[in-house]
Amino acid sequence: MLVFMTGGTGFVGKNLTRVLTEKGHEVTILTRPGEGRPPLPAGARYLEGDPTRPGPWQERAASHETFINLAGASIFSRWTERRKRDLLESRILTTRNLVEAIRGRRKGIAHLLSTSAVGYYGFHDEGDLYEGNGPGGDFLARLAVDWEAEADRAREAGVRVAICRFGIVLGKGGGALEPLERLFRLYAGSPVGSGRQWFSWIHEGDLARIFLYLMERTDLDGPFNCTAPGPVRNAEFTRTLADALRVRAFLPAVPGFLMRLVLGEFGGVILKGQKVLPGRLLKEGFHFRFPDLPSALEDLL
Ligand SMILES: NC(=O)c1ccc[n+]([C@@H]2O[C@H](COP(=O)([O-])OP(=O)(O)OC[C@H]3O[C@@H](n4cnc5c(N)ncnc54)[C@H](OP(=O)(O)O)[C@@H]3O)[C@@H](O)[C@H]2O)c1
Repeated sequence: MLVFMTGGTGFVGKNLTRVLTEKGHEVTILTRPGEGRPPLPAGARYLEGDPTRPGPWQERAASHETFINLAGASIFSRWTERRKRDLLESRILTTRNLVEAIRGRRKGIAHLLSTSAVGYYGFHDEGDLYEGNGPGGDFLARLAVDWEAEADRAREAGVRVAICRFGIVLGKGGGALEPLERLFRLYAGSPVGSGRQWFSWIHEGDLARIFLYLMERTDLDGPFNCTAPGPVRNAEFTRTLADALRVRAFLPAVPGFLMRLVLGEFGGVILKGQKVLPGRLLKEGFHFRFPDLPSALEDLL
């Protein structure tokens, strides 16, 4: 299949591109002009262009069949008003321009697999969250709602749209695990806040397999929670990571007020969470290779 991908130079995109090309798909990665692009596997190529602006890239995109939308500025930073605008625009404008490109197609059926996040549901101390649950009202939830709405507009042009609500992606060479591993190896791992907040995660290999699955299952559309069936609380995550690294997590919990002081509003995201379950994928019979945290960490570390 001819796949067009935004955000393909990032942590998730690099692994996904490798998996897709190994399966024989051809991948075009839209990337903003700049230095230091990762080398590509055979079957993948770069197309230069800024997804937040309309441009000649849209016509090139139109010749593809499957569109994977991953682009977005990183949320892992202190959120100033300017940063919040970047977080929004890098997702909303990218998705809007990509949908415009897809709508410009002259023939054939198109599929859009677009990213969202479990932040959609807002923060919940307790209770299982499935695709049918409604959105939260905080900044990340509103961002996810608007992001999904832009992707859904492609339906008007007869495009199949699947929305992938990612949990925290655990993988090699990037994402949340790398800095945590460094910290824990320095014997500085500890729970955060109460330690009771839920942490919904997914192994990068399972996430890539979900994309392959959704590409093949053309009868499926709408939102999919892309999380492992075994979410954990923050304290359990800390213990399991320390065990996997064979170090001791002995420092006292990082107090919540300190997280807020250092990280501002983003600190609140680490102190709160949500227990999200992959209800639709399990119902459809998708097989998770890494359903629980110990098996995922053993594979990755
Ligand atoms: N990693 C996670 O745990 C996680 C969890 C939930 C949701 N997500 C979402 O999944 C997507 C992929 O995650 P990731 O971890 O692979 O992200 P990443 O490593 O930060 O990569 C994102 C890509 O987006 C593009 N990008 C960055 N800033 C941009 C901007 N201002 N305007 C337009 N494009 C920009 C970059 O591509 P170029 O520089 O090549 O243009 C970059 O390679 C993101 O949208 C993220 O929010 C990730």
